[in-house]
Amino acid sequence: MIDIHAHILPSLDDGPKTIEESIEMCKVAASDGISTIVATPHSKDGVYEAKGENILKAVEALNLELQEACIDLKILPGAELHVNERLLEGIENGDALTINNNRKHILLELPFFFIPPGTERLIFNIQSLGIIPIIAHAERTSFFQKNPKSLEKLVDSGVMVQVTAQSITGFFGSRERKCAERFLKRKIVHFIASDAHSTRNRPPILSKALEKASQIIGKEEAEDLVFKNPREIVTLQTEAKEDTG
Ligand SMILES: [Fe+2]
Repeated sequence: MIDIHAHILPSLDDGPKTIEESIEMCKVAASDGISTIVATPHSKDGVYEAKGENILKAVEALNLELQEACIDLKILPGAELHVNERLLEGIENGDALTINNNRKHILLELPFFFIPPGTERLIFNIQSLGIIPIIAHAERTSFFQKNPKSLEKLVDSGVMVQVTAQSITGFFGSRERKCAERFLKRKIVHFIASDAHSTRNRPPILSKALEKASQIIGKEEAEDLVFKNPREIVTLQTEAKEDTG
């Protein structure tokens, strides 16, 4: 499985504090059957400002540690980008990392309780750069819980949706669980990801949610959300890489 949303790099945000904690999280992920994790530290949320350059360095360092420890897991760079008026500028100058740094998709975090004015315009502008926004944990946003049709409208415009594994399994409460289930049934979910922060409370585990989602939408469709769809976005190359073969 491929996890496109996890706070797994040490001391960049509210995820693990040390490299040892990161490695413990990686062991949990690998034993759950996860082969690849996109590391997505919080960025530009007013508290954490993980910059592209630092994320790239931390990903490289963690991959080296994993190789040395013979843990069969690959970490790719990314970020969880909070909606922010300087986001476009960040994407342009490389501070705001896209998924696998390929300028094709970004993981976009909206506030839980309201949609800031200008968000639709921002989403449109991101799309105009040829980048597809993926709404992080849409089922935890109270606006989408109350207005699922607005999320459908965004999906119709080309936006993709990530739902968090522990919402499906009920960790965040019945409102989030029911909302995740509703979105799955409406077929507006493209990814199930862990949004892991630790080994215990918020672990990088997808198998339990996959099992639950399989009961809701069937095994084949559920598997697309942790295998096929994430694989498609992480294997996309930047145009520059394609040009040079
Ligand atoms: Fe997150």
